[in-house]
Amino acid sequence: KEIFLKDYTKPDYYFETVDLSFSLGEEKTIVSSLIKVSPRVKGSSAPLVLNGHDLKLLSVKVEGKLLKEGDYQLDSRHLTLPSLPAKESFVLEIDTEIYPHKNTSLDGLYKSSGNFCTQCEAEGFRKITFYQDRPDIMAKYTCRVEADKSLYPVLLSNGNLISQGDIEGGRHFALWEDPFKKPCYLFALVAGQLASRDDTFTTRSGREVSLKIWTPAEDLPKTAHAMYSLKAAMKWDEDVFGLEYDLDLFNIVAVPDFNMGAMENKSLNIFNSKLVLASPETATDADYAAILGVIGHEYFHNWTGNRVTCRDWFQLSLKEGLTVFRDQEFSSDMGSRTVKRIADVSTLRIYQFPEDAGPMAHPVRPHSYIKMDNFYTGKFSIYLRSLGFLLSIVFQSNVLVFSFMKRVLISISKDMMSKLVTCEDFFAAMRDANNADFANFLQWYSQAGTPVVKVASSYNAEARTFSLKFSQEIPPTPGQPTKEATFIPVTISSSSTILRVTKKEEEFVFSDIAERPVPSLFRGFSAPVRVETDLSDDDLFFLLAHDSDEFNRPLVLNPKFIQGLGSVLSDSTLDKEFIAKAITLPGEGEIMDMMAVADPDAVHVVRKFVRKQLASELKTELLKIVENNRSIEAYVFDHPNMARRALKNTGSSEYKSATNLTDQFAALAALSQNPGKTRDDVLADFYNKWQGDYLVVNKWFLLQSSSDIPGNVENIHALQTTIIQVYSLIGGFCGSPVNFHAKDGSGYKFLGDIVVQLDKINPQVASRMLSAFSRWKRYDETRQALAKAQLEMIMSANGLSENVFEIASKSLAA
Ligand code: ARG
Ligand code: ZN
Repeated sequence: KEIFLKDYTKPDYYFETVDLSFSLGEEKTIVSSLIKVSPRVKGSSAPLVLNGHDLKLLSVKVEGKLLKEGDYQLDSRHLTLPSLPAKESFVLEIDTEIYPHKNTSLDGLYKSSGNFCTQCEAEGFRKITFYQDRPDIMAKYTCRVEADKSLYPVLLSNGNLISQGDIEGGRHFALWEDPFKKPCYLFALVAGQLASRDDTFTTRSGREVSLKIWTPAEDLPKTAHAMYSLKAAMKWDEDVFGLEYDLDLFNIVAVPDFNMGAMENKSLNIFNSKLVLASPETATDADYAAILGVIGHEYFHNWTGNRVTCRDWFQLSLKEGLTVFRDQEFSSDMGSRTVKRIADVSTLRIYQFPEDAGPMAHPVRPHSYIKMDNFYTGKFSIYLRSLGFLLSIVFQSNVLVFSFMKRVLISISKDMMSKLVTCEDFFAAMRDANNADFANFLQWYSQAGTPVVKVASSYNAEARTFSLKFSQEIPPTPGQPTKEATFIPVTISSSSTILRVTKKEEEFVFSDIAERPVPSLFRGFSAPVRVETDLSDDDLFFLLAHDSDEFNRPLVLNPKFIQGLGSVLSDSTLDKEFIAKAITLPGEGEIMDMMAVADPDAVHVVRKFVRKQLASELKTELLKIVENNRSIEAYVFDHPNMARRALKNTGSSEYKSATNLTDQFAALAALSQNPGKTRDDVLADFYNKWQGDYLVVNKWFLLQSSSDIPGNVENIHALQTTIIQVYSLIGGFCGSPVNFHAKDGSGYKFLGDIVVQLDKINPQVASRMLSAFSRWKRYDETRQALAKAQLEMIMSANGLSENVFEIASKSLAA
């Protein structure tokens, strides 16, 4: 069923308090809820419709009276109560039975490595009990958890621990109370055999917060970096935004099975283990950086998302956009701002631009969805292309952005805390707090597609004027054939002004210009658009050598280019991590995205050739870099050391001598691209060493599945084992265009079969894998026919989930 933004109506009933009680068991779990309900309009006689999915209803009581079968309606997705007391409030009690050990969707209450845990965003709470599962139902919760004491010694939920104790039959309980109202997607419960790393953080107003990171006991040594990241995030939010934590306890739990990265449940964040556990031998610099960013992200949600909440799921960018903006700033402050920006923008180019040009194209605020989970896309599309992104540019100085954001947050929190926030509310708060003119900025919220901006420059020597002519065009997207002009801020070199392009065509003339300038436009990537300029190669080389904005140094192959890279390589004034990024070629997907008809084979061959060429031409410089940047001391995660490793690993592959995973894995990745005995030997050696550590084994799988060696489908068939590993395998496989897009269709068939199988186990993951097909029309006719056949095969499968249906049907229709 498709849900539309325009159909939003307020709920007929509000829930004031919710008292939950869980009796956890091996065969079944009983969930009892006691809800204080109040009609929005006094005397309303509207039916109360509750969502529910895969639940066994045991009983419903209203005001203590048991309802009989004819008193309610039950279908596979709803429980409807047609006649309710005409009172200001009444009590609703519902008992349900659920089967967490059979829940492989990892949505709702499920078991991971023997422990119970939950994931409720976006619509998982309806798999726990019958409820109005929508963000505008804000209630105060208590949660009583009861379980076998030896199997589940630790019992956690949101808020404060009120009481705990033993009960008969070897069982025990804990009672939790969350003093803050929240939507049900922020509910969480964890029960199991866990140990904690404990620490404290004293907020600037003197509140002592107890911090706990929970994992199986043997993993505790690997949580030091996560704890460091949490404390850094808490401090940063106080220093930069003036926002303090609002409870006395903050828990993080790491679980091996998790659909996404992590979840910001109130005071009980739950994480995919790979974003918590790290040691120099088992995690790379990229993993350390991801942990820092995601721990920050989930912590920052406590204000942007939890205290200030979205009215409905169409407003998702409000919480995710703001929070991503905050975590990107946090990571920039902790490391290198330029390198962080390059990495974030390249993610945007690799995932967002193609999505914007495909069947799932949607504006920052979608108009409709079938399954909300598809709009998190794992590609973080809504996140990246939202507010904070443009804002950071509109306000050129960070100091300004922060004080501005703070004002907005405070005004939102004051006015809207108990209301529910929409994108318009945020926009208005933004505009009023700053007296700023955002022109037609709101178009970003309603129009899909990536704007293409063309720039033509001309210099008039007599009049001493220089002119820049801009034209903007947003290509048609499904359901939106024509587009309006939107607000595009353009930063420009050696000028503190930002050009505000707001029309389809607009010219800016600069006077008193002594000679023809080479403008550096969209510095720092000031708007998420595709740019076509009329700059010549000479202009571009000039910028490569001289642009003070490191972000804007372009990449082109040419003798001058090799020379240019040579000088970048030996320029000791540049940041080492920046050099590493600058000499790394764009990925095959990014290159294909720029072609009229994507040709995976050609791109692969050419890119490989360019790499080889660069390596041989720049051999002397590269060897020097390896020599000068070897790891001598113990592993340290900080910017200078990360930058040194990043640079060294662009030049070397020293598998045996590596003393940390960053160096070793870089070597392994290089070796795994060349079929032969060396490859087989190192892969076997690595597996033998790490077979006991599933996170490292996952990386080993990913490496092999994403390899470009010919005919890799066969190898992957031989590798397949558990479900979790299947995710790594397939994700990696689709990342190797030559193999996924193999002209014999073997890659497509492999993915098609897997999607159908996986959909029965975990629809969210199946639909994410399926997205690899979504741009099938970008390829030649042979490939199109092969991909289409797979999509049709998937559509004809029995019992398809809504998740997979939405992606497959939209892909075929586009
Ligand atoms: N709110 C989470 C985060 O910011 C994303 C979780 C989304 N999960 C889902 N199944 N849709 O990290
Ligand atoms: Zn988030």
